[in-house]
Amino acid sequence: MKKILVTGGMGYIGSHTCVQMIEAGFTPIILDNLANSKPEVLLRIARLSGHKPMFYEGDVRDRRLLDQIFSEHQIESVIHFAGLKAVGESVLKPFEYYDNNVYGSLVLADVMRQSGVKSLIFSSSATVYGEPETMPIDESFTTGAVTNPYGRSKYMVEECLRDIQQAAPDLSIALLRYFNPVGAHPSGLIGEDPQGIPNNLMPFIAQVAVGRRESLSIFGDDYLTADGTGVRDYIHVMDLADGHIATLKAVAQTAGLHIFNLGTGKGSSVLEMVKAFEEACGHPIPYQICPRRGGDISECWAATDKAAQLLGWKASRSIEQMSADTWHWQSKNPNGYEQ
Ligand code: NAD
Ligand code: UD1
Repeated sequence: MKKILVTGGMGYIGSHTCVQMIEAGFTPIILDNLANSKPEVLLRIARLSGHKPMFYEGDVRDRRLLDQIFSEHQIESVIHFAGLKAVGESVLKPFEYYDNNVYGSLVLADVMRQSGVKSLIFSSSATVYGEPETMPIDESFTTGAVTNPYGRSKYMVEECLRDIQQAAPDLSIALLRYFNPVGAHPSGLIGEDPQGIPNNLMPFIAQVAVGRRESLSIFGDDYLTADGTGVRDYIHVMDLADGHIATLKAVAQTAGLHIFNLGTGKGSSVLEMVKAFEEACGHPIPYQICPRRGGDISECWAATDKAAQLLGWKASRSIEQMSADTWHWQSKNPNGYEQ
């Protein structure tokens, strides 16, 4: 059995990836400090996959714990999801973001080096591209024009890993740049469970639909897009999870720095997302148009050819499917994992 250490495996993307990994014959071992997830997730993964992953509750910055995990298991690769991800919070708490995201990744890379584990897959973000002048965005576009500490932490980790791989060319390091992950497992058993007021569009719409919030604020309708609202490349979290399996199979055992966009190649506007969700839930989503949100870009979508060619992976699920699965999860679990 191929053992994969999954840091942050109890979180939104990590939990879906663990389910798909088990299905594909990998054995995930989860390390998570539960800073943004619930113990219940482990039971749901077990229910869905028939296998309860081994779980270490702890911090990726805890060198002793990492040493222990690497000595107790023959780890083939590490998927590193653990980190903080709220843009607004990162502006208020930059130290916490650099400590968690940058220092945490360095501790992990160092312990991997000492343990002789040579394969790492890192959760990066399309935010590292800033606001390019042309679309779609391919992997050769310039990175670094980031506008907040969260984005900068992703960019910094990318640059650190690039140097680390250059100095140790036998390492396999994959930088996966996610576009906008949404949706949930079709069972409705696992999904996104943001704490407090959601920062992102889809969980906000879902909470309005289920009656937890009154109405959606649409941040700007004066962008130079077809309907004036922001355009993003929303990708179903199940497709994203499968992108990690494809990465494990295609490049995780090949030395090199492997950079991939994980997106669908198609942009959708805020209003299109609202409409798709209304169809999924069967009733209107109240909204009002508000001023633009600071730091937002107008539009963004991925070029997907590289992932298709080298990973043999392509996202296939539509925004209708993303909305239907989000609604299924949200209506079955109106308060997330907290019943
Ligand atoms: P999430 O918050 O749901 O999951 C992250 C998990 O990591 C949580 O379970 C949290 O408890 C854990 N964690 C945080 N800090 C930790 C630490 N120091 N030690 C151990 N565990 C820790 O987030 P997600 O949406 O699943 O995102 C996963 C990764 O993908 C993150 O690195 C995020 O920045 C990146 N990413 C997410 C998105 C998105 O829209 N969700 C987009 C691009 C990139
Ligand atoms: C945001 C982050 C990005 C991060 C990503 C993770 C910002 C500026 N960017 O991206 O760094 O990698 O999340 O998923 O926070 N919208 C509304 N009303 C809302 C929420 C969002 O109209 O209540 C609009 C936004 O203006 C945008 C679109 O919906 O046009 C998507 O927003 P969101 O889900 O927050 O994602 P990003 O801004 O793309």
